[in-house]
Amino acid sequence: MIPYSKQDLTDRDIAEVTRVLKSDLITQGPEVDLFEDALKTEFSVDHAVACSSGTAALHLSYAALGVDSQSIGIVPAITFSATANAFRYLGAEVRFCDINPQTGLICLESLEAILAELPRVDAPCPGVIAPVSFAGSVAPLNSVKKLADSIGFKTIEDASHSPGAFSSFGTPPERSCSCIHTEAACVSFHPVKHICCGEGGVVLTNNQKLATIARQLRSHGIERPNDDSHETPWFYQQNNLGWNYRLTDIQSALGRSQLQRLPDQLKLRRKIADKYQRALREYPFNESLMAPPLEEGHAWHLYIIRFKEPTMRDKAHKFLKSEGIMTQVHYVPLYRHPYYENMYGEVRLPGAEKFYQSCLSIPMFPNLSEKDQDHVLDSLEHFCLNS
Ligand SMILES: Cc1ncc(COP(=O)(O)O)c(C=O)c1O
Repeated sequence: MIPYSKQDLTDRDIAEVTRVLKSDLITQGPEVDLFEDALKTEFSVDHAVACSSGTAALHLSYAALGVDSQSIGIVPAITFSATANAFRYLGAEVRFCDINPQTGLICLESLEAILAELPRVDAPCPGVIAPVSFAGSVAPLNSVKKLADSIGFKTIEDASHSPGAFSSFGTPPERSCSCIHTEAACVSFHPVKHICCGEGGVVLTNNQKLATIARQLRSHGIERPNDDSHETPWFYQQNNLGWNYRLTDIQSALGRSQLQRLPDQLKLRRKIADKYQRALREYPFNESLMAPPLEEGHAWHLYIIRFKEPTMRDKAHKFLKSEGIMTQVHYVPLYRHPYYENMYGEVRLPGAEKFYQSCLSIPMFPNLSEKDQDHVLDSLEHFCLNS
């Protein structure tokens, strides 16, 4: 089967992991700092707090901003559960914002409408908006920040899909993970993402206080001076209730090796997207489906096509599977999941519904061979001609 996505591991990645496995420290050793330094350089940010998953990165950054049970977390309805769940871990209320069905990105009009109706809360952190740079396309971070600022909310970019992405608008263009318009950006290092650690994530930020708190919360809320300034050299103290969200040295070594290949990986993803794009805008594809808008700076975590006739999506999924091609739906709107429906009742947002009914993620990963990509296109062509 051709998967919709998968990791791309090289001999050097494996050698790096083996090197650490043969060393004295396989966790809490020097590799985590080295990976964090490399991440800071790559994304031109002041701080990087590596942690055990993208979910952990979201949880740490929301917690570090002071999100609690009085806060409101606003998330686009089309995203992975983690963007919203991390608010729920802290007891915050989640509000679902609609998305633009053409781009899959947060809809600013819907966001404005939500903000206009919110009660003013006198809490340490009244709320956080978490725009998702969905599929690898940069969310309108600057516009979201302006709206957030207007009511004292903070902005965290969920950049799980978008390391290396830049947008086509703005001067200079907005870059995902740059933290210019956000308090922090959270990245996932799951195997289907651009940088694979097995599991892993990072909080990127230019906010020193946020980084310090996130770093402590990553390891139980414990503060441990990293120089000999304290009179007792073994000194440490627990300031808050945190978690064990540490990344191991084994994962960090893999992540650092992968990070060095990010530019090449992006080139490969963009090349694959380009070939899809050129084919899909022609007959017979263009009769049945729409290709995503081509953006120069898109990071192409996902390549999502949209069927004009919603019933065709499920048929296409089934047909492609019979041809040995796995596809996926990104995503079921979060408000449709029983957990959220039980909590907030029935919510239906028009943009999210339209996107959800028609979307299908077809194979997109750097080591997708030309032969396999041709097979995807041939099968899709057959499907379009015969349905
Ligand atoms: C948009 C988004 N946010 C957060 C996450 C969570 O990342 P992780 O699986 O590393 O916890 C994911 C993972 O799929 C994601 O797609």
